[in-house]
Amino acid sequence: MTTKAKTFTIYVDGEAVQAVPGQTIMDACDEAGGYIPRLCDVEGLVPQGSCRICTVKVNGRTVAACTQPAEPDLQVEHETREIHSYRKDLVRMLFHEGNHLCPICEASGRCELQAMAYRLGISQATKYPYLQPVRPVDASHPDIALDNNRCILCGRCIRASRDVDGKNVFEYIGRGIDKHIGVNGANLAATDADIDDYAMSLDVCPVGCIIRKKEGFFNPVGDRQFDRHPIGWEIESKRIPTTDISGPAGSDQEVKP
Ligand code: FES
Repeated sequence: MTTKAKTFTIYVDGEAVQAVPGQTIMDACDEAGGYIPRLCDVEGLVPQGSCRICTVKVNGRTVAACTQPAEPDLQVEHETREIHSYRKDLVRMLFHEGNHLCPICEASGRCELQAMAYRLGISQATKYPYLQPVRPVDASHPDIALDNNRCILCGRCIRASRDVDGKNVFEYIGRGIDKHIGVNGANLAATDADIDDYAMSLDVCPVGCIIRKKEGFFNPVGDRQFDRHPIGWEIESKRIPTTDISGPAGSDQEVKP
């Protein structure tokens, strides 16, 4: 006989959302069809709370919705102008920290960073100086290439390789602006990385950092993942198929490129 977990209520922007013990704020919202933006979190991997795009406010304190446990009667601020502005700045900084050349990137159209920028209404990443770091491309492996220029340090490949593939192909190396994804060997070819690893699947790398060779540009423009629906649509469509994804603060003076 199974016992159903006792549900409780949290309040997201004043709206009641049902949750069960063990769920995070994001889990509860996902189930209710409420999308909270995210980049480092993805279904199937342990959340690590590093990108902070999922920032919400609980009792006046900013927390990561992907790691913050839901608790009875929690009052969560999610779609406010202030939080929307935080999220936009975090996404802008990711563009400034790396070398993201969307028009020539193979991941364009299925890139979660690009899709997030569109969703949040960012058209020009001109608020901060471009750091233009010099980062290596590791093309040593016959089937996989690693382009650190596009990496946003979400750690999804690290967790996928470690927790799903049981391999530890990837790890963080360095600190601060020098932090990057390294591999467990002299280069990718010297590791036990395999094209069939979960870490190399299109579900894991949210940008165009892990590249599957010989498979580029497999979807024509117009038929790519985010050409048809904005990021988060699969969650929002559980509730309102025609959800207005612009949010209360989604329209500012910027224009989509
Ligand atoms: Fe929550 Fe990245 S999705 S911190």
